[in-house]
Amino acid sequence: MTLFIGRFQKRRNHMKFTPTTMMSADLKTPCRKKIHLVTVYTHAPADSEKTTCLEEPHKRKLPPRTQAFTHHWKSAHHGYEETSPDNARGVIFSDGENWKVMRRFTLTTLRDFGMGKKAIEDRVVEEYRCLGDTIEAQQGKPLEITLMMNAAVANIIVSILLGKRYDYEDPTFKKLLTLVHENIRLFGSPSLSIYNMFPVLGFLLKDHKTFKQNVKEINAFIKVTFIEHLKVLDRNDQRSFIDTFLVRQQEENGKANGYFHNENLTAVVRSLFAAGMETTSTTLRWGLLLMMKYPEIQKKVQDEIEQVIGSNPPRIEHRTQMPYTDAVVHEIQRFANILPVNLPHATTADVTFKGYFIPKGTYIVPLLASVLRDESQWEKPDMFYPEHFLDANGKFVKKDAFMPFSAGRRTCAGETLAKMELFLFFTGLLQRFTFHPPPGVSISDLDLSPSIGITVPPVTHEICAVPRS
Ligand code: HEM
Repeated sequence: MTLFIGRFQKRRNHMKFTPTTMMSADLKTPCRKKIHLVTVYTHAPADSEKTTCLEEPHKRKLPPRTQAFTHHWKSAHHGYEETSPDNARGVIFSDGENWKVMRRFTLTTLRDFGMGKKAIEDRVVEEYRCLGDTIEAQQGKPLEITLMMNAAVANIIVSILLGKRYDYEDPTFKKLLTLVHENIRLFGSPSLSIYNMFPVLGFLLKDHKTFKQNVKEINAFIKVTFIEHLKVLDRNDQRSFIDTFLVRQQEENGKANGYFHNENLTAVVRSLFAAGMETTSTTLRWGLLLMMKYPEIQKKVQDEIEQVIGSNPPRIEHRTQMPYTDAVVHEIQRFANILPVNLPHATTADVTFKGYFIPKGTYIVPLLASVLRDESQWEKPDMFYPEHFLDANGKFVKKDAFMPFSAGRRTCAGETLAKMELFLFFTGLLQRFTFHPPPGVSISDLDLSPSIGITVPPVTHEICAVPRS
């Protein structure tokens, strides 16, 4: 595991960069390098400044499992207009009691609305059919699948959040998808990374302005939606995550120190929408690209689908009988490594780790690449090799170093949902189509370099989906 530690000073409501912050390597591809871009911040006084890099590439487990590592660092630009960075709302960028209450509520409510259960499985089955129909309408012509895939995956989390699905062509939905997608790209862009280090430069940066404007528009949509839900709210018939939140809000009855206020609702819905859509969709796009790149692997998956599922709709119960497909889905996640720098954490107390003293408030970047590409754990760490997850008899094997969802108390809140979506969308699509590069593009032309974003997508490419049978 690799940790990078350094300094950043707090000044009023923003962080001031100090020259000892360590920055190394490549701003665009932190996931593919052994030395990574790292900026590390702390609230400690400037005179004790020291930047340290802890590199533990052979450690299998992420060390920050303890209470002391549980804060998510608040980046300078996540606070936007409605909360100061010290007063963050929602789940992803909040901490302390607000985070605990919001995380607990999120997990319970996601489960109540079917996360990991048949209710959501049925929704995914319906959605991969709709996505399949939309792809089929292209009649095998080259297509750029990002928005379509985002729409299909977003509809799953939207069905939990709002209790409905949208048509892919619905203008409001399309606008929302575009705003969220653009912000995910901007969030990981070099220019916003620079803004995070030098907030004072914010007014100069066009990307920062676009990011803030997009957030305003997303918030406006969420507010209109929950006002609509409020009008017909029935505590005995809660149809969505938003309804359940609003019922809790009414129970709190305007309590001064309550947590179920509109700011938390907006922030939770916004982050679940983004986290629930972009991650899974990006992984699936990597999956289709890898299937075009390795047609022999695609064929083996399709053979297994034929053998186990035939022409029935893929369901989650099939997974245990499909070790090869399961291994391929895991290997897509390992290889794609879509959140290479994870989400930044911060220490909540002074800690000593591996003999290093780390003061309270230190910015910690637990690099997932250091486990997902660990040479001591993977036979071919930089290659796409589904056998990483298979034993000599072709049985699926779990690996400790497989941590795309991170670990510890801040581990991904949507892991169960994501795993179900990945398996079902992937098998549903490969049952129905064979994916090829467009005419004129050879397999060797297919580029597996990562693009830019807080979630790392493949570089833009087109695919041809040829219906099977
Ligand atoms: C392939 C899909 C996904 C991947 C690879 C992924 C990965 C991650 C990672 C690495 C984190 C940060 C963990 C940490 O800070 O240590 C995270 C956090 C989070 N994810 Fe996911 N995620 C995925 C899908 C989802 C979905 C579908 C949802 C929504 C239902 C979701 C909701 C969240 C939330 C709410 C957090 C913040 C948790 C907290 O701060 O307590 N994720 N995810």
